[in-house]
Amino acid sequence: MTRDLCVLAYSGGLDTSALIPYLMENHGVDVVAALVDVGRAKDLEMLRERALAAGAVDAVIIDAKEEFVREFVLPALAANALYEERYPLVSALSRPLISKKMVELAQEKGARSIAHGCTAKGNDQVRFDVSIRCLDPTIDVLGPAREWNMTRPEILDYVASRGIEIPLTKKNPFSIDENVWGRTIECGELEDPWESPPDEAFTVTVDPRLAPDDGAEVVVGFERGIPVSLDGVWMEPLTLIDTIDELGGRHGFGRIDMIENRLVGIKSREIYETPGALALILAHKEIEDLVLTRDLLHFKRGVEQRLADMIYDGQWFSPLADALKAFVAHTQIRVTGEARLLFYKGSCTVRGRRSPNSMYVEELATYGAGDRFSHESAKGFVDLWGLPLEVWARRAPGDS
Ligand code: ARG
Repeated sequence: MTRDLCVLAYSGGLDTSALIPYLMENHGVDVVAALVDVGRAKDLEMLRERALAAGAVDAVIIDAKEEFVREFVLPALAANALYEERYPLVSALSRPLISKKMVELAQEKGARSIAHGCTAKGNDQVRFDVSIRCLDPTIDVLGPAREWNMTRPEILDYVASRGIEIPLTKKNPFSIDENVWGRTIECGELEDPWESPPDEAFTVTVDPRLAPDDGAEVVVGFERGIPVSLDGVWMEPLTLIDTIDELGGRHGFGRIDMIENRLVGIKSREIYETPGALALILAHKEIEDLVLTRDLLHFKRGVEQRLADMIYDGQWFSPLADALKAFVAHTQIRVTGEARLLFYKGSCTVRGRRSPNSMYVEELATYGAGDRFSHESAKGFVDLWGLPLEVWARRAPGDS
């Protein structure tokens, strides 16, 4: 009798490796392990072999870097999406894409279920479960790491007893997730919010105090809301993100240390390294400020925040998120131009901006010669603008 197939979102780490025998033994399924590469993945072939050694009937690597950038990162950039005004949604953006790849594979292989290794305490379980259900409600979602209640040493014993070897080279005390858009670091000593993060937590950014004294300028070019060039050199978005990420990191920019409100009600201490994401959002906003109307900018800010919350909360595939993404996409038609950024010892500041669609009119803004602004109109405008407030102020309460 053939057993049902389960597609496992495999990361190559201890937990998802332990899930392979666990699913076989406790859910009676054969496991197809699938590792989705959304950037920064290393030694993929080795990880594939590890899944097979752990008992998977098949193990596949899915290169989704380009799709991740095109379909998830760029729309998030167009929305300047930051959760709680700081976190550029690194993991939150990758989960819907990984879910999509799992669903496609499950459908192709005729698998009845999809499993992930998320714990009960995080946001990622929400994002996987909800995304998979949105994409194919007939597939069961299994999250055994929510209920197996094993500590890390117990998991190590468990895999060892099944003859599986996971070489834990350097005992990494942190929980890491990374992709094209950045790197997230949790757990270990970081769980005390008063303790400063240790140097070993960081791999992308240098300590800002040790960054080069000179700093570095870079000009970021955008076409219709998409970053297309650095210092005038055209690049594919994926290369561009990697390049600016590396540059910002070298100057100690892009570290975030925050107390974050998880959807499941927990406050957690989060460390992120996201130089590229933060620099690009800064540059992108700067061009928007130059080319969009005040009304549109202000309204868009509300949409951005709502969309960021929805991405964080696992609602990427919802009808409301689709509608908000469509709104944002429409606003990008004129977002073409360049912003000049300076990286300097942990900071990134804007030093200039320009656009062929600029609404900045020097004859209107100037306090010098060549002024074309109508000063007489200003007087009449202000009179009427303040009129109702003046009437209010003159009327004492209880006047008849
Ligand atoms: N707190 C962040 C979020 O919810 C990061 C999550 C990182 N995930 C992980 N499995 N290490 O998006």
